[in-house]
Amino acid sequence: MSKITTLSEFILLKQQDFPYATGELTSILQDITIASKIVNRDVNRAGLVDILGAQGNENVQGEQQQKLDVMADEAFIRAFKSGGEVCGIASEEHEDFVAFDSEKSKNGKYVVLFDPLDGSSNIDVNVSIGTIFSIYRRVSPIGTVATKEDFLQKGTKQVAAGYVIFGSSTMLVYTTGKGVNGFTLDPSIGEFCLSHPDIKTPETGRLYALNEGNLNRCDPGLKDYAEYCRQDDPITGRPYSGRYIGSLVADFHRNLLKGGIYIYPTTKNHPTGRLRLLYECNPLAFIVEQAGGLATDGHTRIMDIQPTELHQRCGYYIGSKQMVEKAMSCLTGGF
Ligand code: AHG
Ligand code: MN
Ligand code: MN
Repeated sequence: MSKITTLSEFILLKQQDFPYATGELTSILQDITIASKIVNRDVNRAGLVDILGAQGNENVQGEQQQKLDVMADEAFIRAFKSGGEVCGIASEEHEDFVAFDSEKSKNGKYVVLFDPLDGSSNIDVNVSIGTIFSIYRRVSPIGTVATKEDFLQKGTKQVAAGYVIFGSSTMLVYTTGKGVNGFTLDPSIGEFCLSHPDIKTPETGRLYALNEGNLNRCDPGLKDYAEYCRQDDPITGRPYSGRYIGSLVADFHRNLLKGGIYIYPTTKNHPTGRLRLLYECNPLAFIVEQAGGLATDGHTRIMDIQPTELHQRCGYYIGSKQMVEKAMSCLTGGF
């Protein structure tokens, strides 16, 4: 039997990649691992106990919060608060960032931004959902409370990012800027085990994921790209297969492994895009670039966008390099 590497062992091992590492980032990643196991337990029990369905509240984006959205949010906040390495968090489920005020947390060097449950409209129908996280070094002085500037940093400043997918199995995929690694939860031992070392995404693929129902409401160049995807061309393997789960994490994960493109454009209904730059777009952009892919808003590299507000949205084109480049060229009339 070959040796199993658990996520905890791997995180510790990788600390050596950073010569001056003091273990704080390692602790945050360990906190995320524990919170993920808690959320995994709750997600798995969702059909058994009465935790399914709407909470009855709307979040800051005017969307209905699900009970599991709230539970996941609380599980991650608890883990970061008690860990002490994080001075504050920003979550899709909170209007403003949350600064932790204990003495230990004020000395924390990092902030974490996260989407506690992504694809939550899929919970009630047992379709894959996920959690997305992004870690930055604070810019405010250590020993003080976190400020908004700590959270409004470009994606290029991320020190780590990842996601957990609650699918047919539960996986955690993350990067600290030195490649991407994936771990599958073995429920019999309760550990995430290294299953996808050094993930590289194919340069091109045969899957395109977008909500085709929106096509009449977006840039005509995107209609051209969808048409390109549907055309017959044995050399480039077209027509591509259309795949859209409606859970970004799940659509992204599939494309990362198989090769493909995911698009959520700006539309008439969502003139600045639907997905959030800080909680969804930046972390997955960091991962895809580390795996050899590309993420843009159709024109600009996602990680170069300077955020001006916490819940900022943007158009999103992410996946295999050649496919994203082709979609971008269609937006500028290059069909
Ligand atoms: P969230 O559940 O965190 O609000 O995110 C939902 C997002 C994303 O996961 C998904 O790809 C997209 O919204 C689906 O939107 P449409 O239903 O408009 O296609
Ligand atoms: Mn989301
Ligand atoms: Mn969410």
